[in-house]
Amino acid sequence: MLFMCHQMAMKKEAMEKLKAEELRRARAAAEIPIIWILGGPGCGKGTQCAKIVEKYGFTHLSSGDLLRNEVASGSDKGRRLQEVMSSGGLVSNDEVLSLLNDAITRSKGVSKGFLIDGYPREKNQGVEFEIRVAPADLALYFECSEDTMVQRIMARAAASAVKREDDNENTIRARLQTFRQNTNAILELYDAKTLTINAERDVDDIFLEVVQAIDCVLKKKQQKAAAQC
Ligand code: AP5
Ligand code: MG
Repeated sequence: MLFMCHQMAMKKEAMEKLKAEELRRARAAAEIPIIWILGGPGCGKGTQCAKIVEKYGFTHLSSGDLLRNEVASGSDKGRRLQEVMSSGGLVSNDEVLSLLNDAITRSKGVSKGFLIDGYPREKNQGVEFEIRVAPADLALYFECSEDTMVQRIMARAAASAVKREDDNENTIRARLQTFRQNTNAILELYDAKTLTINAERDVDDIFLEVVQAIDCVLKKKQQKAAAQC
C-alpha cells in the first residue's frame, strides 16, 4: 500500500514537472518572434530567409532542408520521405512537425527568433503548430506566378553542382499542384497575420518589405514586454 502511494506521488510529481516544462517552453517561445515563410516552389523563400538571418540573426528552419537531412542519413525513414518528396506531395505532418519541434527545442534559449520556411503547407499544419509549439507572430507569403517559379527552379538546377531530386519537370508540376490545392485555405485561415509580398521583383526590393514587416513585429513584442514589467 505504502509502495503504491509512493509510486503515485512520483507519477504526480513527474506530470507536474512535465506541465511546468511545457509552460516554460511556451513562454520562452512567446518571447521571441516566430515567422512562417509561405510561398510556392521556387518563389524565393530560402533566398529571403538567408537575408533575414544575416540582418536579424534569427534561426532558419526549412522544413524541406530538415527532411533532406533525414534523407541524406540513408535511414529507412529517409527513403520513405524521399519517395513522397519525389512525387511532389506532402510528407505527413507528424514527421515534419516533430523535426521542426526538435530543432526549435534545441535552439530555445539561444535563438533570437525562428523562421519556419515552407510551413504550414496545409491549414491543419498551422493549427497543430500553434497548439504544440507556439503561436506564429507573422506569416510572410511570397506571391509569384507559376511561370516565374518554374524558371527560377530550372535556373537553380542548371547552376548548382548537386541537383535536388525534386527539381525535374514532372516533380515541379506536381509540387505546383500540391501548392495550388492547399494555399488558399491557409491564407484564409491566417489572413489576420499574413502579409502578401509580390515576389516577382528584385531580391533587395522584396527584402525592403520583409524588413518593414519584421521590424513591426519586433516593436510590438518590445511594447508588450515593456507593458508586462
Ligand atoms: P522545400 O525544400 O521547401 O521546397 P519548395 O517549397 O518547393 O521551395 P524551394 O526550396 O524549391 O524554393 P524556395 O522558395 O526556397 O526558393 P529559393 O530561394 O531557393 O520542400 C521540398 C519538399 O519537401 C516538398 O515538395 C514536400 O514534399 C516536402 N515538404 C517540405 N515542407 C513540408 C511540409 N511543411 N509538409 C509536408 N511536406 C513538406 O529560390 C529559387 C531560385 O530562384 C534560386 O536560384 C534563387 O537564387 C532564385 N531567386 C530567388 N528569389 C529571386 C528573385 N527575387 N529574383 C530572381 N531570382 C530569385
Ligand atoms: Mg527552399
